[in-house]
Amino acid sequence: MPLISRISASESARCSILYFIVAMEELITFDERLKQEFLLSDQRIQLRCLRVEDVHEDYLEWMRNPEVTRYSQWRFFTHSLDSLAAYAWNAWNDPNVLFCSIRLVDSERHIGNIKLTLQLNDRIAEISVLIGATDCWGKGYATAAIRMLSDYALKVLALRKVYAGAYSSNIGSIRAFEKAGFKIEARFQRHFLTSEGEVDGVYFARFAEPKGS
Ligand SMILES: CC(C)(COP(=O)(O)OP(=O)(O)OC[C@H]1O[C@@H](n2cnc3c(N)ncnc32)[C@H](O)[C@@H]1OP(=O)(O)O)[C@@H](O)C(=O)NCCC(=O)NCCS
Repeated sequence: MPLISRISASESARCSILYFIVAMEELITFDERLKQEFLLSDQRIQLRCLRVEDVHEDYLEWMRNPEVTRYSQWRFFTHSLDSLAAYAWNAWNDPNVLFCSIRLVDSERHIGNIKLTLQLNDRIAEISVLIGATDCWGKGYATAAIRMLSDYALKVLALRKVYAGAYSSNIGSIRAFEKAGFKIEARFQRHFLTSEGEVDGVYFARFAEPKGS
């Protein structure tokens, strides 16, 4: 199994050539050991694979807060600690999913989650993010987490493309993806029905840079 755990964002850039070669030789999926060791970090936040034990009351409050879920399908679900634990368990046991907590480096406070779902046949992945702690909005954490995990997907896992979707009314999400290097590549007109009426679905992608650039 390749050595792709425990790398910081800067290390990831330095090691990208080595890992590119490794990744090309073998289609990487994430077993339990890799998930236990996985860590991406910058000076302010760190991403670690989320375990069932990481499900807590604050996380449940995020998912029950209509302000947090208003731009996602999560608003249609009834959440409980058990349902969140089941979601975390399924993600932990899916070798194609990296479901990470976003934590503040200083306090280790869990402020949100970010998820990468691999589609290895096409060498692409989908990414989604949620900053649940509303007092942490607008501080650049979503941008940093998206950039870090998409760098990892494109440079370390050597995927070709990472993509994401958002409601057109979710200005914060659109800005965060754009600031993290994603470009809008498609728009589904009047796709979602929200309390504000019909909104478009906006789809973004970030591609791997050509070799040697
Ligand atoms: C949308 C969300 C991910 C943004 O996270 P965040 O950590 O606040 O985003 P950032 O701080 O990285 O902000 C990125 C940019 O968006 C702007 N922004 C953030 N929230 C905004 C909002 N509600 N309205 C307008 N702009 C906003 C920021 O000011 C920043 O732009 P700037 O640097 O030009 O000022 C977060 O609010 C969230 O998780 N919401 C609930 C779940 C959700 O909607 N997830 C996305 C589903 S696609």
